[in-house]
Amino acid sequence: MKLFLDTAHLTEIQTMWDIGILDGVTTNPSLVAKEGRKFDDVLKEITALGIPSVSAEVVATDTDGMLAEGRRLREIHPSIYVKCPMTPAGLKATKILASEGTRVNMTLVFSANQALLAAKVGAAYVSPFIGRLDDISEVGMELIEDVVQIYRNYSFATEVLVASVRHPIHVLEAAKIGADICTMPYAVMEKLVQHPLTDIGLARFLADWQKVPKG
Ligand code: G3P
Repeated sequence: MKLFLDTAHLTEIQTMWDIGILDGVTTNPSLVAKEGRKFDDVLKEITALGIPSVSAEVVATDTDGMLAEGRRLREIHPSIYVKCPMTPAGLKATKILASEGTRVNMTLVFSANQALLAAKVGAAYVSPFIGRLDDISEVGMELIEDVVQIYRNYSFATEVLVASVRHPIHVLEAAKIGADICTMPYAVMEKLVQHPLTDIGLARFLADWQKVPKG
């Protein structure tokens, strides 16, 4: 499973990229707004790191507007995936952009039928938002199970990108189901690394090493 960071914060991206566990980055208008910087500048800096997949979202709500934004965004860098929302206009824009060779990440997906439609119009990624489903007392991960099964049934090439991830168990469950990608906040990726027994074990090894005769 590919691991993406769901952030527009360059330092966070740089840190995980340097460790070598990062496969891509997803952004959205809310995450970009938090940075207080120009969208294009942020995208140029992220792509300049060499990140192979960077999702950038359109904000137009009509197909023509999405097409204009999507075509502009893809010119910024070959690693850009254009995020289009799961609306009729977004589906139409995705089909056209995909036919032009642009890789589209269909976002704001909350049902398996929506995911089916995303695959049918040729989206490269589909982004079901599991945390927001959990927030309204639905089990978000069941949606991932359904989408993975449907895509396998028909051998769709669209990759399942688990989004709106809130904690490490989401990542674990997504991996067990066989989702293609999981995007997560920096704090969640940090927690994937950590285990208290690792810290205790290392401290004990280092303490014991002091007892080994040197020289
Ligand atoms: O980037 C889309 C998605 O991951 C947003 O997550 O936490 O705002 O529901 P969240």
